[in-house]
Amino acid sequence: MCGIVGYIGDKNAYPILINGLKRLEYRGYDSSGISLLNSSLNCYKKKGKVSELEAFVEGKDISGTIGIGHTRWATHGEPSDVNAHPHTSMNGIFTIIHNGIIENYSHLKERLILRGYSFKSETDTEVLANLIEFIYSYGKVNAEIAVRLALTKVIGAYGLVVICNEEPDKLIAARKSSPLVLGIGDGEYFVASDATPIIEFTDRVIYLNNEDVAIIKKDELILKTIQNNKLEPKIEKLDLDLSEIEKGGYDHFMLKEIFEQPRSIQDTFRGRIATDFSSIHLGGLFSVEEKLIAAKRIIIIGCGTSWHAGLIGEYLLEDVARIPVEVEYASEFRYRKPLIFKDDIVIAISQSGETADTLSAIQLAKEKGATVLGICNVVGSSISRETHAGVYTHAGPEIGVASTKAFTAQVTVLTMMALFLGYKRGHIAAGRYAELIKELSEIPTKIEKILTQNDKFLHIAKKYKDSTNFLYLGRGYSFPVALEGALKLKEISYIHAEGYPAAEMKHGPIALIDKNMPVVVIATRDDSYEKIVSNIQEVKARKGSVIAIVTEGEEAISGMADYTLAIPHTDQKLMALLSVVPLQLIAYHMAVLRGCHVDQPRNLAKSVTVE
Ligand code: G6P
Repeated sequence: MCGIVGYIGDKNAYPILINGLKRLEYRGYDSSGISLLNSSLNCYKKKGKVSELEAFVEGKDISGTIGIGHTRWATHGEPSDVNAHPHTSMNGIFTIIHNGIIENYSHLKERLILRGYSFKSETDTEVLANLIEFIYSYGKVNAEIAVRLALTKVIGAYGLVVICNEEPDKLIAARKSSPLVLGIGDGEYFVASDATPIIEFTDRVIYLNNEDVAIIKKDELILKTIQNNKLEPKIEKLDLDLSEIEKGGYDHFMLKEIFEQPRSIQDTFRGRIATDFSSIHLGGLFSVEEKLIAAKRIIIIGCGTSWHAGLIGEYLLEDVARIPVEVEYASEFRYRKPLIFKDDIVIAISQSGETADTLSAIQLAKEKGATVLGICNVVGSSISRETHAGVYTHAGPEIGVASTKAFTAQVTVLTMMALFLGYKRGHIAAGRYAELIKELSEIPTKIEKILTQNDKFLHIAKKYKDSTNFLYLGRGYSFPVALEGALKLKEISYIHAEGYPAAEMKHGPIALIDKNMPVVVIATRDDSYEKIVSNIQEVKARKGSVIAIVTEGEEAISGMADYTLAIPHTDQKLMALLSVVPLQLIAYHMAVLRGCHVDQPRNLAKSVTVE
């Protein structure tokens, strides 16, 4: 959730670090800081966005060819200058940046206080800095040993980079449950929490594994475990283009990512659906294909938007493949003592592949002997490595905190899985299978058509931007879309919104409806169309304002609704891929009109690596 960047080489570190922090800002943005090493160590930290740090360092000494930078999303201690990273140990020997949480930090802190240590901040990271210094000074060991020994004493998660003043030729990096990647340049190394700050310098990278420690000099890299076992670095080629992580002319990453969906969905099914639409090939599931076809139960786990995609997965897999499915919030699944059997298939859905709750739930499912699959967007992420098999969504980097293209890519993967299993299990005939695959292949063109109506979505946003509450209603496949639409609005515009199954409205939310309550109804043509029309009438009878998403040619609703937005027709099993797009755009425009920070909404983080 926080962002890490480090550099060691011959170049000036400052521009590399500050630009890296700007690229990482989507991960966390309540404060940031940098430390630069030259004859002494200069550390600058500032509450707020990276631009505030940049203004703060103007005119100050920013020289140095070794440095570390951090952008923070507060866990321990409120956002403030003093709680911002880097943190320096009491005697100034060690400076560190850290992602993750040291769970036993209060116990360690008490013991360090007994040894005479004092603390400036409320953070767990400062405890770690002092622990390393204590081991270094009292144990009379070198910096590497001090870091490794300290890490054997901590419980929790870390991705960290350490500078030792007394060994100024190196950075020491280590990870456990919080990603770190090393970039290899020519006589220089980069380290970061994801590849975005280093892509413009090198495409040769090493992903650290849990409990790996890297001792990085400008012309030497030593990789070992925290138990001091030497490791052979595995160099990989980064498959990421700089243009993919830039705004490319759009005002916000979120808007760019919404408009990328025709292409990203195509990238998700490219090479996986036959050109004659006769078959689906999911290479990542090949090793578990037989188990999947014979599955008695599937459990889908995820958080946030990924959980909403999981709900659509449930509807698809039960409808098309006739396999019982349960969908769980990863956080609840982990702690509620669920029944998990050896022949269960667990599917973990995660854009980042780093969400702590999802990772822990995967661990539990694996311990119970289930087969665990991943649907991840970030290649090489922890979840993709922890699962037995899986399917990448290939949507490209998603930078906007509110997930858009990752959601439609996840639903595309789940659709392919459901169709494949439905066919293999004999629940859909070859003709229908081909028909649905063809329909899926046409989704990108249909989304393009929806995107051409952007002005209409802007118009709706202008009309309703001052509303304080919103209700989103849908039935069947449209219910998870209602949840996702409400989440998008909440996340970026800070308007309270709730998603409900339309039929449940009469069991509670109907009490809220009056002339001030806009209700977004997903009323596309499906099996429950007539019922949802009745729900619209129920809202209108109570003077609610209705914005209806309808299928082209089904515009009879326009006589009832205040606004109708028509989207192209597709099979109801695929409709979520289309109906979510107007909701993403309405939320986007609403947030912009309200002056909200669309790509970095308050209090949220793109990748939640704490429980
Ligand atoms: C955070 C993000 C959401 C995302 C959720 C799950 O809350 O702000 O956009 O849906 O985490 O993330 P994941 O990477 O596991 O899909």
